[in-house]
Amino acid sequence: MRHILIDTDTGSDDAVALVMALNNSKISIEAITIVAGNIPVEQGLQNALYTVDLCNKKTPVYLGEGKPLKRPLRTSEFFHGQDGLGDIGLDLKGRKATEGNAIDIIIEKVYQLGNNLEIVALGPLTNLAIAIKRDPRIISKIKNCFIMGGTAFGPGNITPFSEFNFWVDPEAAEIVLQSGMKITMIDWDATKKYAWFDSKTIKSINKINTPLSKFSMDIQNNPKKYKKKKYGNETIELADPLAMAIALDPSIVMESKKYNVKINLSNEEHRGENILNEKGKKNTTIILKASRKKFLDIFKKSLT
Ligand code: RIB
Ligand code: CA
Repeated sequence: MRHILIDTDTGSDDAVALVMALNNSKISIEAITIVAGNIPVEQGLQNALYTVDLCNKKTPVYLGEGKPLKRPLRTSEFFHGQDGLGDIGLDLKGRKATEGNAIDIIIEKVYQLGNNLEIVALGPLTNLAIAIKRDPRIISKIKNCFIMGGTAFGPGNITPFSEFNFWVDPEAAEIVLQSGMKITMIDWDATKKYAWFDSKTIKSINKINTPLSKFSMDIQNNPKKYKKKKYGNETIELADPLAMAIALDPSIVMESKKYNVKINLSNEEHRGENILNEKGKKNTTIILKASRKKFLDIFKKSLT
């Protein structure tokens, strides 16, 4: 049995990734920890608790950091909706977090599981960076850290240079990437290539016709509206589900390569940008090619 801890900022794509994990019988989700990003951390907590309830699970969900290490918090309600899940009227309030703090739980779970804990990070890396700083001994114990973040080669999605998670908290991303932890980075380039959902793909998901397939597409309401307004078509990209799928089934990966990746912290316009270096200590495995078919198969299977 694999033991997974998911760190998330529970926006409309994170929630689908959570469903994929919650419905996977081959893994044990040790904890879900919440970080500020798409929406304030308190809303991210409610969205994760709602999703756990929807999947009829009792997975513990812990509140984490409410702001980046150094920068003011910048959220993305413009994309995910005010409530982070598409503003479709879901009851996203009043649920209680599990007693405890996200950072403490990350450290506790690493020690509890020895070298068997894998982390899937779907939001800004603030929680993980603080945990590493507080107890650097966990770095070598974490079996693998799958990170949705960055954009290795192509343009960003929040600025021309940067992907949202690394842009929100670039200092945290730099701490995690330079830590020496075993990192697999599923970036925005891979997301655009393999995790796009045009109207035909969305229709095929809706045909599954289960409460979870309905939920996973209904909460894309705002992203679809945003894309239509900005680009004239409703095709959306689901970054976190691709990262989760690769974490759940690494055979989806067809090609990857190790790089030395640094984060640009030096100027505001390029904050969060990935600086790749073929030389230097290779600290990150970047996904270069993946099977869209396998991704969609695992995606659809998790919604039945
Ligand atoms: O850039 C995409 C990432 O930023 C995803 O994790 C999405 O949920 C947002 O957090
Ligand atoms: Ca996310």
